[in-house]
Amino acid sequence: MSTSQAGVAVRVMAARVLDAVLHRGRSLKGELATALPQLADVRDRALLEAICFAALRRRGAYGLVLEAWMSRPLGPRDGDLRALLLAGLAQLDALELPPHAALSATVEAARTLGRPHQAGMVNALLRRAQREGVRQGDPAQAWPAWLRTRIGADWPAQAEAIFAASAQAAPTWLRVNRRRGTRQAYLAELAGAGIDAQPSAVLADALCVAGSVPTAALPRFAEGAVSVQDGSAQQVADLFALADGARVLDACAAPGGKAAHLLERFPGLALTAVDVDARRLRQVRQTLERVGVQATLRAADAADPDAWWDRVPFDAVLLDAPCSATGIVRRQPDVLLHRRQDDIAALSALQARLLDAAWAVLRPGGTLVYATCSLLVEENAGQIDAFLTRHVDAQADDPGPAFGHASGAGRQRLTGEDGMDGFFYARLHKAAG
Ligand SMILES: C[S@@+](CC[C@H](N)C(=O)[O-])C[C@H]1O[C@@H](n2cnc3c(N)ncnc32)[C@H](O)[C@@H]1O
Repeated sequence: MSTSQAGVAVRVMAARVLDAVLHRGRSLKGELATALPQLADVRDRALLEAICFAALRRRGAYGLVLEAWMSRPLGPRDGDLRALLLAGLAQLDALELPPHAALSATVEAARTLGRPHQAGMVNALLRRAQREGVRQGDPAQAWPAWLRTRIGADWPAQAEAIFAASAQAAPTWLRVNRRRGTRQAYLAELAGAGIDAQPSAVLADALCVAGSVPTAALPRFAEGAVSVQDGSAQQVADLFALADGARVLDACAAPGGKAAHLLERFPGLALTAVDVDARRLRQVRQTLERVGVQATLRAADAADPDAWWDRVPFDAVLLDAPCSATGIVRRQPDVLLHRRQDDIAALSALQARLLDAAWAVLRPGGTLVYATCSLLVEENAGQIDAFLTRHVDAQADDPGPAFGHASGAGRQRLTGEDGMDGFFYARLHKAAG
């Protein structure tokens, strides 16, 4: 395939992915997982991802442009065309690609999508965007009204900063595998590969790279020397002090990032990784194999220990619970499209069931760490307060300001703080015997 053909193919795929996500309720992750392997060149894959992310993050501003500049509104059958226009605007505006190449590939993509009659309109609209620029709207407008209200109620002083940070592209956080070498040595390897990274002052295994880096560009990625994992997710391991041979449960383990980190850091662990989703649990197996660690894997409902538990209590449990994902909107912008108001009460009820079950399999004197990538008090501090009321044998201890703002009995980092995702942490100790 020639370069220009490949360029057109990327725009066609971007339009199809965005159409599915924006107009047919599909997940960005799922659509990209199908589309990306169809592109042979790593640069084309990176471009496809960048276009889709940028178009979704700024879809509010781009939607206004289409409304204002199009003489006739697009109809319900024009989903792919609308998606292509958003992809075109993202290339010129957010990604600042060289206009000539971006324009010609996007106009050609309109023809490939079976819309030769609209190619002229696509061209005219993108040329106008190139001339006049795109006015950036209020980032809060990307959030559904009910969720905007909840964030405003939970974090009145910080809501604006949360909306702004959620509209920004996130940096790439790397986790160096202690079993495969030191962070300092890996920093030097990255420098050798032309990648500039900063070691974190707070997180012992973390390096931060501005912008996005494909894993194929990371030295010894395939051999497990390094993983891509946000700083907030890496910090979960800092909540554990585990003796050699400790029995640990990761109750919601897939795709396995935190399980892998615990096993890299505490080599003697006997870790059981449970996830209800058997397909996602296969990703845990792959993750652990790549970094060279082992665990017992169980595809099961963690809220129903009778179905999978051998009745030997665990010394420690990690419950990285399913949640609204409101803290990772900058990485999963489609969360704002798919999340429904009713989801929160359902998630909150599931989290409570998972917490109670995790407590039941923990030995007296053991530690339970509860974490979410949510910003909502109901899923976080509120959830833990209710848990402490239900369980008189539970005591929370404050992990300290390095983990974010004090919030009830836990800590909350808000999106973008310390360059990291929004995350909640609580550490609970079970009274000994
Ligand atoms: C936030 S993700 C976990 C991320 C993971 N800890 C990591 O670091 O890679 C939440 C996971 O909970 C799983 N899950 C949801 N309900 C569950 C249940 N009842 N029992 C076990 N796992 C569940 C989901 O399939 C999902 O993989």
